[in-house]
Amino acid sequence: MYRLAAFLLQCLALASAGVYPNYHADFVDGDVEIEMRQQQMKWWQAGTFYQIYPRSFKDSNGDGVGDLNGITASLPYLKELGITATWLSPIFTSPMADFGYDIANFTEIAPIFGTMADFEQLMRAANEQNIKIILDFVPNHSSDECEWFKRSAAGEEKYKDYYVWHPGHLVNGTRQPPSNWISVFRGSAWQWHEGRKEYYLHQFVKKQPDLNYRNPKVREAMQNVLRFWLAKGVAGFRIDAVPHVFELAPNSEGQYKDEPRNDWVHDPDDYGYLQHIYTVDQPETIALVYEWRAVLDEYQRQHGGDERILLAETYSPIDIVMKYYGNGTAEGAQLPFNFLLISELTNASNAEAYAQTVRKWLDHMPEGRTANWVLGNHDKPRVASRLGTDRVDMLNMLTATLPGASVTYQGEELGMTDVWISWNDTVDPSACNTNPNIYEQYTRDPERTPFQWSADEDAGFSNASKTWLPIAKDYREVNVVEQRKDPQSHLNIYKQLIQLRHNASTLQLGATEVKALSGAVLAVKRSLLHDYTYFTVLNINDGTETVNLQESFENLLPQLEVVLATSQSKSKAGDIVDVTALSLLPKEALILRTTGKLATASGYYTYYTSGNSRHMPVIGIYTLLTEVAVLLSYLSYLAV
Ligand code: GLC
Repeated sequence: MYRLAAFLLQCLALASAGVYPNYHADFVDGDVEIEMRQQQMKWWQAGTFYQIYPRSFKDSNGDGVGDLNGITASLPYLKELGITATWLSPIFTSPMADFGYDIANFTEIAPIFGTMADFEQLMRAANEQNIKIILDFVPNHSSDECEWFKRSAAGEEKYKDYYVWHPGHLVNGTRQPPSNWISVFRGSAWQWHEGRKEYYLHQFVKKQPDLNYRNPKVREAMQNVLRFWLAKGVAGFRIDAVPHVFELAPNSEGQYKDEPRNDWVHDPDDYGYLQHIYTVDQPETIALVYEWRAVLDEYQRQHGGDERILLAETYSPIDIVMKYYGNGTAEGAQLPFNFLLISELTNASNAEAYAQTVRKWLDHMPEGRTANWVLGNHDKPRVASRLGTDRVDMLNMLTATLPGASVTYQGEELGMTDVWISWNDTVDPSACNTNPNIYEQYTRDPERTPFQWSADEDAGFSNASKTWLPIAKDYREVNVVEQRKDPQSHLNIYKQLIQLRHNASTLQLGATEVKALSGAVLAVKRSLLHDYTYFTVLNINDGTETVNLQESFENLLPQLEVVLATSQSKSKAGDIVDVTALSLLPKEALILRTTGKLATASGYYTYYTSGNSRHMPVIGIYTLLTEVAVLLSYLSYLAV
């Protein structure tokens, strides 16, 4: 009876073992040479993207704010990292109410960052270094200082409906906003405009009026913005706040519907007070992203060159996020940002939670698409502050060895931490709209402090007497110059990881398995026929752990070679370890590799090509059949 139960359990386990082919989901191993498959890969598919927040990267003119010439001067550093592309947070003319996410002119460079000539110089220099430049495209809103808005407010025919206007309602003689909608940055999302005598919608601060995408002229104008920058040679765009672009249209009486409440939030100004069923994720949004992609593809058809890409910022439910990739007939964003590592992992997450978080994306991703892994950005607390400085390297290891692209926010490669900023020094509108008692929950200033280049004054970021945000106190220890000296620093581990992914075809093309080996140990296996198999093993917690990789991964020889180890480790690259009893120190992480290449074309590494992107390994069937045979013989033995 026990045996029968065990057998059934084993069958179940085998059948549910998830092996994820890479984006080449339809390849049959062995049919196509590795080199050929690498050639077929697009430049971004295993790329490392690096986000620069220009205000805080490098100040070349001593005004305490980073600028374009600072970025150009820092290209050798980006080259040293080995990144594929950098996306720049907005560099366009702006009154900076939301630090550039409030754009007054979509095709002009903000003087604080430089000139168009500086931008063109950056493009030339980046091109020479083979680093692609991606710009931030902010479609949801402009600044209220944008010419379009001024003309719209003045009722000029062409611009009248460029924004979302409404007269509101008179209740007992008092004018009330058109609906109860709340701004992401607190308070009503409607602002009365004295000039036009109407309310306008702003889903972010009131200096960020929402553009009206139901107006074809707006769609055309924003497509032209894309074309303008494409002509300047950019490799693509990160699309800002895309789920907000459409709101539910007014009903037949011209009224906007109120959104329902969330009972558990009691502060009526808090964005969480309402369920955003009419202002976020409207069905038209996805089609709009497909339109933008068509603009990029058309540009490429006309002008040649590498594929131009879209990275979409959306924190929507996963089923919606997946639609951004495209559908059967239209292409969408090549990389809708995967924020799961940010939104689902906490300090308390165990290895199973890590495994589930990684699998969640791979399970949902449509066949033939490319995964991506984002660890941080300018809106979220830094990785080191969120999950611990001692987990920075293991997380970089994880994202560098998972399939697809990875995205690093500037400074995460150094393990920079959030900096506490006093209420008086707080500048982020998201916090300034609150009060001294609660601002810390809302502020994004702590993750936006200047990049730490060296132990020099202002961390080598600037020579201003005051930088726009304070410099972190730890800059003398945590900086590029210091970390270059230590072979096991965050920076050097990061550089080796990029190099590894660049060189290892298994990491670019291989299939993926993700497993929790214990409560604390996560393992990722990457395998590719005719190449080495890699394992990334993380001990997430503070205890020493001993695991047996052979128990969890079939057909594994006991000895593996260490490729990369975190500073906690006693192992070093080139060591051979016994994976039947692999001991991991607290927070130690290793990348291991088989000593030989995978040679067999049949068995474990052959996949079905039809249907789903998840396939049961063929060896699973062999094992199953063997088990059935053993069971039958056992039953017949009992019957005798
Ligand atoms: C995005 C940006 C954020 C900005 C907001 C409004 O979420 O990342 O920084 O405040 O959009 O544009």
